[in-house]
Amino acid sequence: MKRTILTNISEVVTPEGKNALHGKDMGKVKRLKDAAIVLENGKILAVGPNETIIKQYVEEDTVIQDKSGSCVLPGFVDSHTHFIFGGYRPDEFMMRLKGASYLEIHKAGGGIWNTVQATRNMGLDEMVQTGKERLEDMLSMGVTTAEGKSGYGLDRECELQQLEALEILKKEQPVSLVRTFLGAHSIPEEYKGRSDEYIDFLIKEMLPLVKEKNLAEYVDIFCESSVFNCEQSRRYLLAAKEMGFGVKIHADEIEALGGSGLAAEIGAVSADHLLMIRKKDCEKLDASSTVATLLPATAFCLHKPYAPARELIDGGCAVALASDYNPGSCFTNSIPLLFALAVIHMNMSLEEALCALTLNGAAAVGKADQIGSIEPGKAADLVVLEKPQYEFLVYHTGKNIVKEVYKDGNLAYSKR
Ligand code: NIG
Ligand code: FE
Repeated sequence: MKRTILTNISEVVTPEGKNALHGKDMGKVKRLKDAAIVLENGKILAVGPNETIIKQYVEEDTVIQDKSGSCVLPGFVDSHTHFIFGGYRPDEFMMRLKGASYLEIHKAGGGIWNTVQATRNMGLDEMVQTGKERLEDMLSMGVTTAEGKSGYGLDRECELQQLEALEILKKEQPVSLVRTFLGAHSIPEEYKGRSDEYIDFLIKEMLPLVKEKNLAEYVDIFCESSVFNCEQSRRYLLAAKEMGFGVKIHADEIEALGGSGLAAEIGAVSADHLLMIRKKDCEKLDASSTVATLLPATAFCLHKPYAPARELIDGGCAVALASDYNPGSCFTNSIPLLFALAVIHMNMSLEEALCALTLNGAAAVGKADQIGSIEPGKAADLVVLEKPQYEFLVYHTGKNIVKEVYKDGNLAYSKR
C-alpha cells in the first residue's frame, strides 16, 4: 500500500496509550488542531501538525487526501454485541412498555428462548448474510472493531454455527471481529431445572470443542437471578480461564447478584452492564484491571436506571461503552445514541465517552496495544466526521455525523 497522508484535518482527537485509561486519565484526550496523519501498510506512521507532517513525510508517490472541515477520531470499538441472531421480538418490547418486566418475560419462556428457537432454524448462509448487513450498518456509524457473541443456540450445533458465522464474517467484510462464546446465556428448555448439569455440559463438551476449533477468544456468562448464580459463574469462568480463554461477565444487570465483584476477583477482562452494582463491588472493580463495560442503550430500552459511570470513573475504574446490540433487551446499535446517553444522562464528559468507545473498548477485547487511538504503530482505523469539531457528536444529538471510515488504512465507508 502506498503511503497516504490525510491533510488539513481541522482536529484530531484521541486518547493515548496501549492500555485502558483509568479514572481521571480517561478525560485526558489529545486534541490537535490543523493536523495531518500518515498511513502506511495499514498502520499509522505519524500524526502531527499539518505543515510539519507534509514537510517530513511527502514522497514522490505519496497519496494526499484533503480532509478540510473534518474532525478525525480513532475507529470506534463496540466491545459488547449479540448481532448474530434470528427473528425479532417487537411484541415483547411493547409488553415491556405496558409494564411487563424483562425477567418476567424471560421466566415465562419468552425472551432469549424466543430468539434461540428462531436462531436454531437459521442456516449458516443466512447467519452470515444478516451478520454482514448488520456490520455494514455498524461500520457506517464508525465501528471498526466489534465483539460478537454466540448465545442464541444453547446447543452444540447452533452455538458452533454462530461462532463459525463470526469466523466467516471476519474474512468477508472490513470490521474486525472478536468472538465470544456465550453458551451460558440462558438455561435451554432441554436442561430446565438442571442448570448445574448444563454448566457441566458446557465445561466438559463445549469449551474443549470451541478451543480445539479456535472459534472464540472470550467466554461470557449471564450471571443473573433465574439464570446463572455467582457460584455457577465462578466455576464456569475459572474452568474457561484454565483452558486459556479470556473471560467476561454479564453482571448486575437486573438484580444485584455480585457478578461485578466476581469479575474483579477472577481477573475477567470486563464486567458488563452493572446497572444495579453495589458499592462494595464498585470498589473491587476500581482496584482491579477489569474494564467496566457500560451499556446505556440497554438501560434506556429497559427503562432502568443507568450504571453509575461517574462513581466508577471517580473511583479510578476503567470504563468502556458498548451497544449490547441484541433483539431483546436492546435492539439498537446506535453509536450516536450511546454518546448522547453517556454525556447527557450518565454525566460522563465527552472526553471520557470518546475514550470509553475507543481505547477502553479496545482494552475490553484485549486489543488496546493495536487499536483504539491515533498513534504511530496502531492500526489505521479512523473515523472522519462531516463536522470540524468533535462536540458535534453530542451537540447534533442522535445524528450520525460519520462521513468516512478508514479500516487498516483503506477507505471502507464513505457517506453517499
Ligand atoms: O445483554 N442479558 C443478557 N443478554 C442480553 C439480552 C439478550 C436478549 O434479551 O436476547 C443483554 O441484555
Ligand atoms: Fe449483552
